[in-house]
Amino acid sequence: MKILVIGSGGREHALAWRLSQEGHQIFGAPGNPGIAQLGQIVPTTDYLAAASVVEPDLTVVGPEVPLVAGVVDQFRAQHRPIVGPTQEMAQLEASKIHSKEFMQRAGIPTARFVRAESSEVALAALPQFDYPIVIKADGLAAGKGVIIAQDRAEAESAVYSLGPTLVIEEFLVGEEVSFIVLSDGRDVVALEASQDHKAVGNGDTGPNTGGMGAYCDGRILSAYETQLVMDTVIQPAIAATGFTGFLYAGLMMTATGPKVLEFNVRLGDPETQPLMHRVEGGFGEVLMSAATGNLRGATLRWKSDPSVCVVLAAAGYPGQVRSGDVIHGLGNCPALVFHAGTKLGGQGIETAGGRVLGVTASGRDLSAAITNAYAGVSGIHFDGMHYRTDIGAKGLRRWTGTIGVPGT
Ligand code: AMP
Ligand code: GLY
Repeated sequence: MKILVIGSGGREHALAWRLSQEGHQIFGAPGNPGIAQLGQIVPTTDYLAAASVVEPDLTVVGPEVPLVAGVVDQFRAQHRPIVGPTQEMAQLEASKIHSKEFMQRAGIPTARFVRAESSEVALAALPQFDYPIVIKADGLAAGKGVIIAQDRAEAESAVYSLGPTLVIEEFLVGEEVSFIVLSDGRDVVALEASQDHKAVGNGDTGPNTGGMGAYCDGRILSAYETQLVMDTVIQPAIAATGFTGFLYAGLMMTATGPKVLEFNVRLGDPETQPLMHRVEGGFGEVLMSAATGNLRGATLRWKSDPSVCVVLAAAGYPGQVRSGDVIHGLGNCPALVFHAGTKLGGQGIETAGGRVLGVTASGRDLSAAITNAYAGVSGIHFDGMHYRTDIGAKGLRRWTGTIGVPGT
């Protein structure tokens, strides 16, 4: 198939890599230097124009911004098969208030919350919660619109910095899991569970980022837990919305079961990088089935080896980022390197974004996958490069290899 991949980050490079491994012809709009090595770049964000040039058999959308802008509606109006949600369904991610109220209506477990459209309402709601308290900006914020405040003073300053339209919610304790399914509006195929590492520093310290690394291991959720998530979160969400595309449930596995922290209407980044490393052949056909309403009976197969992606970030990230640092060592890296924030400059590949590269590898067990990913990192260098050295460590510490819901 001719497949058009919309987006320019590491997630899209990983998708393009997997699909090109299966023999599909890849087009990237607007793409990045990594995707350019696998196929043809159409350097535009006018995606309909790109499609009229390429005439793809199938289009897959990576990021949320074009989805929220209605790219799926536009493609469908021209009868072009595309994987993604409509503009209306994309509101599940675009507005936290919409998303929380949807969960409440559909009976999907989530943290207790209050919506606030002004700082006054937000401040008045604070006493309804214990500390730490979670304060979220309503709109899209690239993973940076959430503050966990430890006391009243921090909460007040979060209200002013994130406001005026906010969700204030109860702090949940547990392990976070990224659970993504592919839906054709009726039937769903679940991807393997994965874990992101959102904070910039080791041990989950420092400010939140778009994701500093992820790993995928078949043991993250037990079969029982997976079924619980399907029954209490995924099925009610799909039944209520007829959602199409990738639905990402950011879960907290609490002592009282899985609760949804957020819905995203797309694949996760960087979760997609280790996921694409593990998925086996036929992924392109399953995507086509989803785009055409034929997902019933489809399955995805996964390699048993766990996979790990370590994100290499640019100077300043997640704050003000410096661009234009030359990247060395890409040529002989023993791991797969997915480009996220790079550009081709006068002296070769340079940094051009906060999250620059996703170094991805697998291994016979999680420990070996971690070793292999960091072996890949060790040969790469650019000025200001920083990364977490504990990606996957949570998985290693888990004694049974599953995130236990007590009694299961
Ligand atoms: P979100 O964008 O809603 O997923 O929030 C970003 C991150 O903030 C999550 O990945 C969690 O690490 C943390 N977080 C969000 N909501 C809560 C909550 N209710 N309790 C604890 N941590 C949370
Ligand atoms: N890795 C989190 C996200 O894609 O939103």
